[in-house]
Amino acid sequence: MARPVILDVDTGIDDALALIFAHRRGDLDVRAITCVAGNTGVDQVVLNTCAVLDLLAAPDIPVAAGATRPLVEPPRDASWVHGAGGLADLALPPSARQPAALHAVEILRREILAAATPLTVVALGPLTNLALLIRTYPDVVNRIERIVFMGGSASTGNASPVAEYNIWHDPEAAAIMLNSGVPLTMYGLDVYRRVIADTALLGELKASTDPLQRAVGALLGFEVAAPTGETYANPLIGDAGAVCGLVAPELFEFETWPVQVEFARGLSRGQTLVDRRRTLGEDAVHDSRREPWPRIEMAMSCDAERVMALFKDALRPKD
Ligand code: RIB
Ligand code: CA
Repeated sequence: MARPVILDVDTGIDDALALIFAHRRGDLDVRAITCVAGNTGVDQVVLNTCAVLDLLAAPDIPVAAGATRPLVEPPRDASWVHGAGGLADLALPPSARQPAALHAVEILRREILAAATPLTVVALGPLTNLALLIRTYPDVVNRIERIVFMGGSASTGNASPVAEYNIWHDPEAAAIMLNSGVPLTMYGLDVYRRVIADTALLGELKASTDPLQRAVGALLGFEVAAPTGETYANPLIGDAGAVCGLVAPELFEFETWPVQVEFARGLSRGQTLVDRRRTLGEDAVHDSRREPWPRIEMAMSCDAERVMALFKDALRPKD
């Protein structure tokens, strides 16, 4: 039986790859897609998501607009990574699909409570919608099977030297989710950076006669124009890897560690602090106020070649 999921996205390039992969799998039942401001503005996220669903000839899955900005910070888009519209230079036709009349938080609550078997949320953008859901409707917390989230890092950052973009964009929201008690799986930069399309695959996809494969080639082949003026390729499947981790956990190595988010203003704001010490230190002895940190399962490494093959296999034209 297909696993019921909701994808919470800030459709940009790799969210689109995740939508494509999730839709092409037969073992995931995408009940709804909720949109959040991140890579681009939330209205553009909705337009991009609907355009990708058209590319997939997907059924009428509810697409809902959510938070227009983080809980505290102003929105800070990543258009230099994902292109002006968020979908590289892919000119997908505008969709006739209309977003749901309800806010993303309402759709999340409705689908979570209606699911006959507990539903998994795959969060691929800033965690603002999830935080609003948890704070507005605490009754749903124990009805969520798991939140698999692309975010954080047990090593270095990307948005800053230590913070990963989705967490950096809304650290308060990430902290609310981390401390909610919902079972969590973190798909952080430690694996996110590993699954890369090689030149041969890029060439194959770009030259394909299949429109979906050509679109994936354009998304993966997009040249990032950094603020410094440098341009570079970024052929990561990115968020799609988090969905791969959900359907094929055997391709990943997971560890469980205490994690907290730094949201004090300063150089490390948005860092996921992963406590990999085998014993507590002075902070536990001398800081009696210290609460135990939530212990989070996180992907630390993967068989990148097999994950890439899994992603590619989902692109095979259906008979
Ligand atoms: O740090 C990478 C994450 O930030 C990805 O989810 C990407 O789409 C952006 O949202
Ligand atoms: Ca994303």
